[in-house]
Amino acid sequence: MESSYCQLLLVAVLIVALPVSSSSLSSSSSVTTKRFRFSVEWKTVTRLCHTKPVLTVNGKYPGPTIAVNEGDNVQVIVTNRVARNTTIHWHGIRQLRTGWADGPAYVTQCPIGGGKSYTYNFTVVDQRGTLWWHAHFAWQRASVYGAFIIYPRMPFPFSPPIHSHFPIIFGEWWNRDVEVVEREMMLYGGGPNASDAYTINGLPGPLYPCSTKDTFIKTVEAGKTYLLRIINAALNDELFFAVANHNLTVVEIDAVYTKPFTTSAIMITPGQTTNVLLTTDQVPDSTGMFAMAARPYLTSVFPFDNSTTIGFLKYKATRNTKFERNKPPMPPYALPKNLPAMEDTPFAAQFSNNLRSLVSKDYPCNVPQKIDKRVVTTISLNLQDCPVNQTCQGYLGKRFYASMNNHSFVRPSLSILESHYHNLKTEFSSDFPEKPPYVFNYTGINPVTENMNTQFGTKVLEVPFGTRLEIVLQDTNFLNPENHPIHVHGHNFFIVGRGFGNFDVAKDPKGYNLVDPPERNTVAVPMGGWAAIRLNADNPGVWFIHCHLEEHTSWGLAMGFIVKSGKEPYQCLLPPPSDLPPC
Ligand code: C2O
Repeated sequence: MESSYCQLLLVAVLIVALPVSSSSLSSSSSVTTKRFRFSVEWKTVTRLCHTKPVLTVNGKYPGPTIAVNEGDNVQVIVTNRVARNTTIHWHGIRQLRTGWADGPAYVTQCPIGGGKSYTYNFTVVDQRGTLWWHAHFAWQRASVYGAFIIYPRMPFPFSPPIHSHFPIIFGEWWNRDVEVVEREMMLYGGGPNASDAYTINGLPGPLYPCSTKDTFIKTVEAGKTYLLRIINAALNDELFFAVANHNLTVVEIDAVYTKPFTTSAIMITPGQTTNVLLTTDQVPDSTGMFAMAARPYLTSVFPFDNSTTIGFLKYKATRNTKFERNKPPMPPYALPKNLPAMEDTPFAAQFSNNLRSLVSKDYPCNVPQKIDKRVVTTISLNLQDCPVNQTCQGYLGKRFYASMNNHSFVRPSLSILESHYHNLKTEFSSDFPEKPPYVFNYTGINPVTENMNTQFGTKVLEVPFGTRLEIVLQDTNFLNPENHPIHVHGHNFFIVGRGFGNFDVAKDPKGYNLVDPPERNTVAVPMGGWAAIRLNADNPGVWFIHCHLEEHTSWGLAMGFIVKSGKEPYQCLLPPPSDLPPC
């Protein structure tokens, strides 16, 4: 009875707290509550001359921006007005003790059914900058996503002063119904249909057919510094992004400040956010326009969308410079020269290596110097034998899956958090292997001749409160070595090491950065390589760890992670809210 101590404690607190309501109210009165209403509903949207119903929040595509202050209590009342299940996830929000509000379907909650509502109630603690929110059910996040901005309590720790800020959210557009795309992929075992376009703030831009009017154009003043809040909400693709003639200075990743560094372009994986400063210090031509563009960083052998989305920065005219006013951008559209080529792995690796935690008195880097446990897990694609009497459309007539330590994660029918809280251990098992079950040359084997079958189950890694945990994520070249963006719910982590080839436990830890490693919630594991992350398991609850490439999550590249409640009241998971949706 793991949680019984916390539940007893809760009863005691309630009894004591009842008669003293006024004083207990005043002690919490410094926390401001911000309330939002999300209505999940259909909206007819046209892109690339294809009109289809799109799942949205409040009829907006992309969805509304949530903006709060550091320390705020946030309550989002989500009402599901469609005949499909849904949930919403607040990507990167720590959810300290409030796992019930985290959102992944069947991990922390059962879905919100049609016509039902659920209030996500959580407090933003010690995080500041740009995060985002998205649906966490099937592939709904293709259109159900938006920015989540946390204004800092203290001034920005960098200069120059920011004139203004705006989100740049990358997405993917399918002309078809995205849930059908996913269903077909799972039914026949082949790769999914690639998207038809990438988008910037929902707009594909003029390089796509029938799309010139759907182009993102941002008007800026010359001689100012802007903060771009860049979010990769694409489903299946890491992206490069650049603005013609302008450098970008990275100052924050995943709502954590970094040592500022200036770069000609960025690489951003699905799930990641990157705040950059851009100074409008260039001399525009007669159009006043500079192209910005995003295209994939390609490490996959699956069919993929190799197109490019562009938008524009438009300098405002001044007394000395006049532009051809209100002219739309005209072809030919030159891509920014500083946009990396699709196969530019050296740029991607160098960019990741340049990211460092800020490390200051106000913003220390609390990376665990010592660890209590090291878990090594492979992250793999799998080629599964086709069940008898079926036809499979994957490579060699087999079907695709994906796995961690050769286990493909299966979502249970009741949320793991509920099973855990009520001690019903029937639907999951706490025996996720802490080492790869088969030792082989992970990045050296022949990618298609090995036996690549995986096993299925709902396995979780369970650790006591306060465990200083290291997880080594080892890519394999089963099928194909690929860059995998691994996302951890409920915790930030520190990327202490990364490299190509196989992780060597005798040698590689000696090269770890334990001084200023980047802190984030999603790590790009190098293709054909490994990444080591460390975290303090200080958030009791059940957390999802998974690849943020949606096709890989569907194939099972995921695991559960349970942090048990600690001994102190403030180390206990809170009880479930009364409106938690039933299964
Ligand atoms: Cu951004 Cu589990 O997700």
